[in-house]
Amino acid sequence: MNKNDLLFYTAYEEFYAMASESKAFQNFCKDAFGEDFSQDGFSDIEQINRILQYIPKQGNVHILDIGCGNGKMLGYLQKKTGAFIHGFDYSEKAIETAKVLYPENSEFREGIIGEIEYEAEQFDVITSMDTMYFAKDMSSFVAQIKRWMKPNGTLFVGYQEGDVMPKTKDAHTTVLEEALRENGMPYEVEDITEQVYELLHKKREAVEKHKQEFAAEGHQNWYEMLIGQTEYAQVPYEEFKKNMARYLYVVRK
Ligand SMILES: C[S@@+](CC[C@H](N)C(=O)[O-])C[C@H]1O[C@@H](n2cnc3c(N)ncnc32)[C@H](O)[C@@H]1O
Repeated sequence: MNKNDLLFYTAYEEFYAMASESKAFQNFCKDAFGEDFSQDGFSDIEQINRILQYIPKQGNVHILDIGCGNGKMLGYLQKKTGAFIHGFDYSEKAIETAKVLYPENSEFREGIIGEIEYEAEQFDVITSMDTMYFAKDMSSFVAQIKRWMKPNGTLFVGYQEGDVMPKTKDAHTTVLEEALRENGMPYEVEDITEQVYELLHKKREAVEKHKQEFAAEGHQNWYEMLIGQTEYAQVPYEEFKKNMARYLYVVRK
């Protein structure tokens, strides 16, 4: 498949080039999310720290991040647990950076959702923060993930509705939920929409705080893009939650 035909491919190449050179963006991420993982989404440190409990403390532990970007979240999980980290992303720029930042006990691959393959029963934990949306066929991608998981493995998904995915009734009516059901995968889910509403306000404050720094770097356009991403939280929460939702799914094989 030609990557340039895929949704947002060029935009992500530009995003990850900016993320590796911009101090303003790195500072913004720290203030908004609690850690700089070059987030393009809604994953703050509180959500990421929840993953730690599912990573075994001993043994030959392997974790995979789907849509890993430049690998900073995986680097954090490795530092905390010592796990071997695997990640894939379609962004060439992001994978190039990840390989430089985390050369030890790691495997980073450039790959497209639905095309990339791994051996069966390799991973203790698979994470996918704000990336499942890009699967052209959610059910067959979930089937593939199920194959990649070890028998007692865990899949941890941060899933947003209201931007890429349409808003449905609740956490039990999403496209992802239907795919999990089709594949016979039990799950627990938490609705964290209110937390993400607060996060968007924090994000807005953090962008404003670093406005001059973005401008001094010639990254005014990124400042504007980031501010734009927070606009839809400039309404009362009751309004916001009619159109937006965020869920954390913890899924078993
Ligand atoms: C919304 S970002 C989330 C990134 C990161 N996981 C986070 O939470 O900040 C989506 C990620 O998926 C990658 N991506 C988008 N479409 C993809 C595809 N079809 N195949 C592989 N990666 C894709 C992007 O490069 C980007 O890193």
